[in-house]
Parts: sequence; C-alpha cells; structure tokens
Amino acid sequence: MMEREKNITLFIEYNGNRQTVETFAGEYRNLMVLIKDQMWVEGIGECGGMARCGTCMVELLNAGENLAVTDTKEAAVIRRSTTAHSTIRLACQILVDETISGLQIKVLEP
Ligand code: FES
Repeated sequence: MMEREKNITLFIEYNGNRQTVETFAGEYRNLMVLIKDQMWVEGIGECGGMARCGTCMVELLNAGENLAVTDTKEAAVIRRSTTAHSTIRLACQILVDETISGLQIKVLEP
C-alpha cells in the first residue's frame, strides 16, 4: 500500500516551542485534534470540538481573509474569552486541508 504524501505543512508554536508539522487532508478531523496530538497541549479541546469551551484558541499569524471567523457561535466564544482580536480562531473550527498549508499558528493557553 502506498503511503499518502504529506502535502500540508504547518508551523505551530506553543509555550516557546516551535514545531513544523506535516500532514495530509483527512489525517486529522480538525486543527484542534492535530494540535492535541502533535503539541501535547494539556486541557485543549474540552468540548470535543463543538465550539463551546474556548480551550482551543489559536492565533493565526499569517492567515488571509479566507480564515476569518464566519460562524456566530465561534465568534461568541472568542468574544467571551479574549479581546477578540481578528486573528484569533477556535482550532476545532478549522479544517486541515491544503488551503491552510504554510499557516503559522500560535497556540494560546487553554
Ligand atoms: S474544542 Fe471546545 S471550542 Fe474548540
């Protein structure tokens, strides 16, 4: 069986550690699951990706307009927890596919 090519590269920072993660579409359900698996962030993802707990907040350091928050539920959770900077997202609401390759992500404290 042929192994799938890892054609998505992400640069993730957490607690002063930077890591380059390579993956492919479908390996992870969403960005929160990837971060949990790769970065050992304790306390992330309490609601299991339902956009309720706000423990998976990330700052997208180089994202374009296409990654802006569009969901009102997500926007409300972010507003409740932070000063709602426009580069903050819930990682559980971001699909891991080719469109996010090259993204620089800073994981915020859960
Ligand atoms: S995992 Fe709970 S808001 Fe993302």
